[in-house]
Amino acid sequence: MSTLVIVGAQWGDEGKGKVVDAVAAQAQLVGRFAGGNNAGHTLVVGERRIVTHLVPSGCLYPGTRCVLGAGMVIDPEVLAAEIASLRGFGLLQRDELRVSLHAHVIFPFHRALDGLREDRAARGPQAIGTTRRGIGPAYEAKAARRGIQVRDLFDASNLRARLQHNAEVLQPELTRLGSGERIDVDALVDAAHAWAQWLAPMTCDAGALCAAAIRSGERVLLEGAQGALLDLDHGTYPYVTSSNTTAGGACTGMGIGPTVIDAVWGISKAYATRVGAGPFPTKLDDAVGERLRQLGGEFGATTGRPRDCGWLDLPALRYGARLSGMTGLCITKLDVLAALGQASVCVAYADGSDPGRDGLTAARPVLQQVPGFDDPQLAGRLATARTWADLPRAARAYLDLVSETVEVPIALVSLGASRDQTIFVDEPFRSRR
Ligand code: GDP
Ligand code: IMO
Ligand code: MG
Repeated sequence: MSTLVIVGAQWGDEGKGKVVDAVAAQAQLVGRFAGGNNAGHTLVVGERRIVTHLVPSGCLYPGTRCVLGAGMVIDPEVLAAEIASLRGFGLLQRDELRVSLHAHVIFPFHRALDGLREDRAARGPQAIGTTRRGIGPAYEAKAARRGIQVRDLFDASNLRARLQHNAEVLQPELTRLGSGERIDVDALVDAAHAWAQWLAPMTCDAGALCAAAIRSGERVLLEGAQGALLDLDHGTYPYVTSSNTTAGGACTGMGIGPTVIDAVWGISKAYATRVGAGPFPTKLDDAVGERLRQLGGEFGATTGRPRDCGWLDLPALRYGARLSGMTGLCITKLDVLAALGQASVCVAYADGSDPGRDGLTAARPVLQQVPGFDDPQLAGRLATARTWADLPRAARAYLDLVSETVEVPIALVSLGASRDQTIFVDEPFRSRR
């Protein structure tokens, strides 16, 4: 019996899909606990490349149950398309998918509002650069207690009343922002009725399911979305997403207590990327950043936007590690950094500060060159490594520096997008109880 939480440790897109898929080979239940289809998690097996937005990245293993938790916001149209696409690959054939009755539903008016607000903010200081998927407006409704949960889809008269309430609140803003559309409550009730039909057999109490799995000795993997610095409370507010992306979110988002969690792995690239607005102290606005983007294929899995690229920021990573109480660090894309022909790393900020929530905005990074990363042979020698001992000395020294500065041991190293390009330094499921 063992429960492992895996979260992003930077600004998202760290390789959660890849790592969760690699670890899920040993899990019986994989749950997503926060966010919605703002996430894009890439799974590569052989020639196949699958991007999941809602379904947990354990979905490639027949028989492994996949659960969407109460902390998520779910766009039923996106979920239906994703299920159909996965079934097209021969996956999810055995009733593996479960959806929390308490997750919140994203409606078309949430998406419209998200897009119109971003258009209005354009490139000004108010623009967050959201994914325009309706995530913020859906979480806003939840906090305002007018949100619509999955379970509300099964009660037409209550649903109608709740939709009417939302229309009264949101229609004036939609109109003010230039939308010519009216929120059509009747049409939405009909759409919800259709969603309820296919969702019904999948619905569950995700917390109860998770707790029962843990009690019966199963290995449970809880997959985060986004990353620590996009956390609503502890990230670079207001340039964050609208949910708790840190490990605590696994408890509230699944409906389990912190005492059942045995380990927390945080994922970081060997460098850093960010998509959307907000502070990014080590960002490279030059040809090196561009080359990193090309080598790493740093374009959003959800929106296709180019990601900003820069050096690994150890003070920020240390902050992320603290927020999630990480017990292990997974470093991905070391192959990309090794191919660059040079590498630097931010070891501290000039004023000696620890970032905290606000420190990142003004941070001036102190950079160090990483020895041995100018060796043209490095990438080639890295490519064939399958154990820690196989790794070239310069790569091990870099990983040691990261681990010592962040004060978290390395648990996994990823050297490519596919499963076999993974070095497990630690075992993912080790019970401490
Ligand atoms: P996620 O949102 O954290 O799941 O990450 P994304 O899937 O959005 O972005 C990570 C990208 O890097 C994907 O295209 C992955 O296939 C790819 N990837 C993950 N790990 C590695 C790695 O170690 N090396 C390389 N070259 N690519 C990787
Ligand atoms: P995964 O799970 C990277 C960013 C957006 C924007 C901010 C708010 O694939 O790592 P939102 O649509 O959530 O209101 O946007 O958060 N963002 C992500 N960046 N990876 C993600 O997910 C992200 N999800 C949201 O770019 O800056
Ligand atoms: Mg992603």
